[in-house]
Amino acid sequence: MRYRDIKAMNSIPLFTLMLSALIALLPQAGFSQEPAEIVCIQCHSGLPEKYSQPVKLWRGSIHAENGIACNGCHGGDPKDAAMAMTPERGFLGAPREPEIPAFCGRCHVGVMKDYLASAHGRALGKGGPTCVTCHGNHQVLKASLELINEKSCSRCHSFERARSIRDAMQETEGMIVSIEGRINAYKKLGSDTDNLEKELFALRNRFHSLFHNVNVEMVKAESTRIQVELKKIRQVLEAWDETGRKRKTAGALAVSAMLLIALLAHLMRKTFD
Ligand code: HEC
Ligand code: HEC
Ligand code: HEC
Ligand code: HEC
Ligand code: HEC
Repeated sequence: MRYRDIKAMNSIPLFTLMLSALIALLPQAGFSQEPAEIVCIQCHSGLPEKYSQPVKLWRGSIHAENGIACNGCHGGDPKDAAMAMTPERGFLGAPREPEIPAFCGRCHVGVMKDYLASAHGRALGKGGPTCVTCHGNHQVLKASLELINEKSCSRCHSFERARSIRDAMQETEGMIVSIEGRINAYKKLGSDTDNLEKELFALRNRFHSLFHNVNVEMVKAESTRIQVELKKIRQVLEAWDETGRKRKTAGALAVSAMLLIALLAHLMRKTFD
């Protein structure tokens, strides 16, 4: 065996070692959202279906995406397997149905307040829906008006009132989405959109907290008030469109004038030649 071959062979393990060290240093997708040290996930993943199912469902949820793990909702100690589910470490267990709004409401304070004051909240424990009835427990997704659908809302009563709430909200939702698109287009062009963005953000929050009162008249009235404010933002954008058009026409006129002058100059030089 020649010296060069031996040298090449020796360097292989070293190279592999360096490569694996490098890979270990790279941030791994998923780890940032689900730290390996959460003992709840480790242990529950290996339990029978009833107790491991929550882990699978939770993984695709908006809570997982935002770093809210099992202990965020259920309490307990996510770092100590032996003590994880003890009341001393703040473990709350699984809530019974009437406890659910307060359980979720520790973080969603405003929503809980609106819900408790609504016809749904007043029927809590007497056939009314809880947060989980509409949003699910572990696979909670980003909320949208699609949650108001015939299948979900006609479980307990007719869909009629639900439909009129959805219709009142759909139009406003459409306005918000379209205005958002137009603001973004101006932002890409380098315009100062900060104030419009702030106004839209506040209106959007006001709008999305509207649903839980489930009062058809209240939702309609507030939707109308929000639309009045949205139209003001739309007017600002229309004024911007108008200045943009004027600037373009002025620019086009200037260019045509210059072309005309150049043409004339050319013709004149030709006649003098
Ligand atoms: C070492 C294993 C292990 C660890 C760690 C663990 N669990 Fe559990 N968990 C279980 C077992 C087994 C059950 C079912 C039997 C029982 O209720 O004790 C259970 C049940 C539960 C229940 C249902 C209780 C009920 O009243 O029905 C919840 C909620 C729960 N665990 C949440 C958590 C949370 C949150 C953590 C982390 C802070 C955690 N678990 C850590 C093994 C574990
Ligand atoms: C967004 C809040 C939330 C998060 C996060 C959450 N849970 Fe739950 N969990 C609930 C609620 C609410 C219930 C009560 C179930 C019901 O009534 O629908 C529950 C019930 C349970 C139960 C009892 C199931 C049964 O059938 O008795 C277990 C076990 C459980 N959760 C484990 C976990 C584990 C493990 C995690 C982390 C992967 C987790 N949960 C994350 C809200 C949450
Ligand atoms: C420990 C705090 C905490 C608890 C408890 C909690 N959440 Fe959340 N939830 C969050 C955070 C953080 C987000 C992501 C940021 C946001 O959108 O507000 C979120 C997002 C959501 C969203 C999506 C909001 C959107 O903008 O579309 C819904 C719906 C939701 N949670 C419902 C629930 C329900 C139902 C429960 C109870 C089963 C619950 N949450 C318990 C913290 C919590
Ligand atoms: C678990 C049962 C249940 C589900 C599911 C349910 N509701 Fe209700 N709802 C009730 C009860 C109970 C009342 C109060 C009695 C009544 O007015 O019929 C109510 C009342 C209402 C009212 C009248 C409120 C008022 O102040 O007059 C509206 C609107 C409504 N629900 C909309 C919805 C929508 C939208 C959905 C689906 C996203 C839905 N409901 C899903 C049980 C339910
Ligand atoms: C009857 C069904 C229903 C019930 C009960 C319900 N929600 Fe909702 N929730 C919805 C719908 C529909 C939306 C979407 C509204 C929208 O797009 O404007 C929503 C939106 C949300 C949002 C997002 C709001 C935002 O500002 O973007 C959160 C968070 C939320 N719900 C949490 C909860 C919590 C916590 C409870 C219990 C206290 C609860 N919900 C009860 C149907 C329900």
